[in-house]
Amino acid sequence: MKAMLSTAPGGPETLELTELPDPKVQAGHLLVRVRAAGLNFPDTLMIRDLYQIKPPRPYAPGGEIAGDVIAVGEGVEGYSVGDRVLALTGFGGFATHVNVDATKAVPVPDDMPYDDAACFIFTYGTSHHALKDRAKLKAGETLLILGAAGGVGAAAIELGKAAGAKVIAAVSSEDKAAFCKELGADETLVYPRDLDRDGQKALSGQIKELAGPRGVDVVYDAVGGAYAEPAIRSLAWEGRFLVVGFPAGIPKIPLNLTLLKGSQIVGVFWGASVRVDPKGHAENMADLFKLYAEGKVKPRISATFPLAEAAQALELMQDRKVMGKVVLTVD
Ligand SMILES: NC(=O)c1ccc[n+]([C@@H]2O[C@H](COP(=O)([O-])OP(=O)(O)OC[C@H]3O[C@@H](n4cnc5c(N)ncnc54)[C@H](OP(=O)(O)O)[C@@H]3O)[C@@H](O)[C@H]2O)c1
Repeated sequence: MKAMLSTAPGGPETLELTELPDPKVQAGHLLVRVRAAGLNFPDTLMIRDLYQIKPPRPYAPGGEIAGDVIAVGEGVEGYSVGDRVLALTGFGGFATHVNVDATKAVPVPDDMPYDDAACFIFTYGTSHHALKDRAKLKAGETLLILGAAGGVGAAAIELGKAAGAKVIAAVSSEDKAAFCKELGADETLVYPRDLDRDGQKALSGQIKELAGPRGVDVVYDAVGGAYAEPAIRSLAWEGRFLVVGFPAGIPKIPLNLTLLKGSQIVGVFWGASVRVDPKGHAENMADLFKLYAEGKVKPRISATFPLAEAAQALELMQDRKVMGKVVLTVD
């Protein structure tokens, strides 16, 4: 087998394509021949030891994959050799072969190609859990998405529209704004790549102008940093602010802002919710496959790279250049 291994903490340039002995299937696992691997922001953090999961080195990053089952481990029921699966791997996905915990694999519908399947569960799973379970987003409400052209943000646009919300997509460039419009956003706004105090005030004003006098019912914050506070200031009465991610840093928020709007700051930890509520997760996946079959959601893959070029793919993501998803194809 081949794997892009992280042998020392550092950026994407530290990954090494390495030939390894073919693995044996482990008990409770499926051995999967990977066909495609989706990239996510945590991959860029994990290889630098900046993520909550710190696998022992050497290891291949890669938190989600799609491929074919080539061996079924002892104690696993319901899967056969040849089944197409997608799976959350946590790490290990940037490789030709990976042992997948059978409880973290999901059969792939016949109409879904490997590249879509490899970048489906993480972003749509997160955004569906956030909007449905955590925010309880309702039709007719206004949803503001920060970082709306990224992986989870783009999924939130489609899911927000499918739920009947008015969607305001906030991003750092006109190109990204046009991309969000194509995905169905009703309104877009462009914020600066660095936000000072004046920029924060201007952003708050822009949001209020687009949202109207009531304000925003739900904020989906996949960016954090200085962008969070202006969004909280634009909340409607009883608005909900979803804490999703911090590529721009972990914000500190004056709590009086929540009192003034009767609003809530709501944490979103999709990975933990999958473990705590497997039944709810299965229902959410069924919702998402139905939406995919109806054409209401579809991963927007803006770039694909071969496994050997995983470093270039990760650089796009850390340089804030990705629109939608980036996928590695594993031939
Ligand atoms: N809570 C959960 O359960 C959960 C689940 C999945 C992911 N996440 C988190 O959600 C966040 C987004 O993940 P993703 O995979 O969608 O990432 P992504 O595709 O890279 O999107 C992140 C967006 O953040 C914005 N951004 C602002 N400052 C940035 C910076 N310094 N570096 C990079 N991007 C920056 C960029 O949009 P603009 O350029 O338009 O600002 C970018 O499109 C990550 O923090 C990830 O860890 C959380």
